[in-house]
Amino acid sequence: MNRIYTVDTVGKVGEEVLLKGWVNARRDMGKIAFFDLRDREGIIQVVGVPAELDEKSLAAMRDARLEYLLEIRGVVQARGAKQVNPVMPTGTVELLAKEISIITASEPMPFAVDSDTKVISEELRLKYRYLDLRSERMLKNLVLRDKVISFMRDFLHQDGFIEVETPYITKGTPEGAREFLIPSRIYPGQFYALPQSPQQFKQLLMVGGIEKYFQIARCFRDEDQRGDRQPEFTQLDLEMSFVEREDILALTEKMMIDMVKKVTPGKRIQTVPFPRLSYKEVMDKYGTDKPDLREDKDDPNLLAFAWIIDFPFFEKTDEGGWTFSHNPFSRPNPEHMEWLMKKKNIGEILTTQYDIVLNGYEAGGGSIRNHEPEALHKVFEVMGFDEEGIQKQFGHMLEAFKFGAPPHGGIAPGIDRIIMILANEPNIREVIAFPKTGDARDLMMGAPSEIPQKAIDEVHIKLK
Ligand code: AMO
Repeated sequence: MNRIYTVDTVGKVGEEVLLKGWVNARRDMGKIAFFDLRDREGIIQVVGVPAELDEKSLAAMRDARLEYLLEIRGVVQARGAKQVNPVMPTGTVELLAKEISIITASEPMPFAVDSDTKVISEELRLKYRYLDLRSERMLKNLVLRDKVISFMRDFLHQDGFIEVETPYITKGTPEGAREFLIPSRIYPGQFYALPQSPQQFKQLLMVGGIEKYFQIARCFRDEDQRGDRQPEFTQLDLEMSFVEREDILALTEKMMIDMVKKVTPGKRIQTVPFPRLSYKEVMDKYGTDKPDLREDKDDPNLLAFAWIIDFPFFEKTDEGGWTFSHNPFSRPNPEHMEWLMKKKNIGEILTTQYDIVLNGYEAGGGSIRNHEPEALHKVFEVMGFDEEGIQKQFGHMLEAFKFGAPPHGGIAPGIDRIIMILANEPNIREVIAFPKTGDARDLMMGAPSEIPQKAIDEVHIKLK
């Protein structure tokens, strides 16, 4: 007999079925035992009556504790009118067990998973994340994540985008954060870096004629942790050739609107089209470049998207020089291109950078890129690089742009943050299967960890 999910018992009254699931709850009433059996799709009440069961099944019924994994063959029966549970999807039926066996036993649980685990200490939850994932809310969040990601994939494929994978073991890329380094075994003293984003690769894909690229891309940044930051996180990274700012904003906006409609239809977007505010405007008015524009901050179903545009290209460094404010590969606003080429009014040059904010979070950012090598070179000059430094760090980009590079631009929405907001969760750890703690540890795997001296020697490292 094929196993079915608990929820599929509804409508099968009188039929014999096979279920496999975990003991979510157990109640004993004299010789009769009631189990709530849980599988991925739901829960059903199982009734174990001694008269219906042989010796082996009775022993299994007696031994089964919380989170034991059981296999139960039984007959679906309608519950009496008084027993119907309207809040349970299987509340009109129950399973009368005919045969019970234990697939695997369980140790006593470190915490209960039959109710919301939010009340449990997060350290304990993350140490036993695989158990935490058995709870309804965590499963729901992972299902939502899958829905969001597959929606995005479908949406972009329908629009002619190609998903391309780019390397995770590569050279550093300036994205404003510290990088995770990987020492090379073959080349003593040399290092790879994990990418802060696929920024350079996606631009090179445009030079490669891909025209419309996207990737569900893992990004790595060695930053101080916050609720909306993880050392590794996921972007919907995309890039297009022959576009202007308007094209990227329109595409992203349509994707977000359609996504909300399809994936979380109970939510309401406050303002469509999304308001556009300049960096100066929001800083003057809200003192932040990611304002929470919701009219009612207590409404869990309200989504306030907005675009922030016209960011300053450069900002002063502590040493009195200039650095990029967002992305060195961005193009200045057209009217400021001349200033960049003449390296004047540096502080006033605005960039084509745009951020999408959602309920007070930066949910994504992108720009139109500087595809002309001379103009890109100027950016690095403004930042105080000498010719050798420019060639060493960015020579490959400047060179690539000499070969008929198309004008291009893109954006990278932060998937974890978007799902966190859609799920009404307070931090992105709740929507990532195996996140790091707030202090960047993986308590389940025990990372980071010391490694054998031999492994350290092999990569030519000497510990201080
Ligand atoms: P940016 O650095 O703005 O742009 O990143 C894009 C989006 O990624 C999310 N994000 C994070 N999410 C979780 N944890 C983090 N540590 C973290 N850091 C960033 C945010 C952010 O808006 N290459 C450019 C994109 C482009 O220009 O196309 C980039 O990475 O939601």
